[in-house]
Amino acid sequence: MKKLVVLTGAGISAESGIKTFREMGGLWEEYDVMEVASPEAWENNPELVMRFYNERRKKLLDAKPNEGHRGLVELEKYFDVQIITQNVDDLHERAGSKNILHLHGELRKARSTFDSNLIYDINGWDLKLGDTCEKGHQLRPHIVWFGEEVPAIAEAAAICESADILVVIGTSLNVYPAAGLLDYAPKNIPVYLIDPNDVNTSNNTITFIKEKAGTGVKKLINLLPNIRN
Ligand code: APR
Repeated sequence: MKKLVVLTGAGISAESGIKTFREMGGLWEEYDVMEVASPEAWENNPELVMRFYNERRKKLLDAKPNEGHRGLVELEKYFDVQIITQNVDDLHERAGSKNILHLHGELRKARSTFDSNLIYDINGWDLKLGDTCEKGHQLRPHIVWFGEEVPAIAEAAAICESADILVVIGTSLNVYPAAGLLDYAPKNIPVYLIDPNDVNTSNNTITFIKEKAGTGVKKLINLLPNIRN
């Protein structure tokens, strides 16, 4: 089976009611990113950071995967699908996708502030100051904050290098190193980008599908070579 690599961003979860970051009314209009999603924020005001992630986690528990997530599961019938997501929600998992790599962490997990290998599921929606790891140290959201390393980036780059087809869905390609993954894909492979808005990228070989994820993935399924014949 051909390897279909999908890079997703906040836009694929928009139709599930999850806010994106940089659009009108997006999360970064409501909050100063450096006050809720950075090591300095955690240092200076851990209560605000905890509240920011607890509120998003609470909303996530009520959200459901949408047609875009489900369409990617459908593609697993025809391709070896590998998802690389910038999203911290678990909607790809809940839709049934098998191979998912989270670049920026996972909202429903916590990790020890003492040993980053100690990672725990958060049952329910809230993580509190005073919740500790097995070694007695405070738990923090298992999220890659601005200014922190992206541990999975090398693995993600290697996956992109092995792609036969690359699909980009619902990302403004504003944040590196994630946005730079497109450059790791082999130069001669088909690249599709699904987004209802224009996305500026230097890659001029892209096939733009100017649709929301739910409709766009359906159109993609009809476009992809292995399925057409
Ligand atoms: N379907 C598909 N795409 C959509 C939809 C939709 N229904 N609605 C919006 N979009 C698109 C927007 O047009 C935009 O291009 O989704 C994209 C969302 O862009 P951002 O809000 O910048 O989100 P993202 O690219 O995922 O941000 C990357 O930035 O703040 C950090 O860590 C955070 O992972 C995040 C990273």
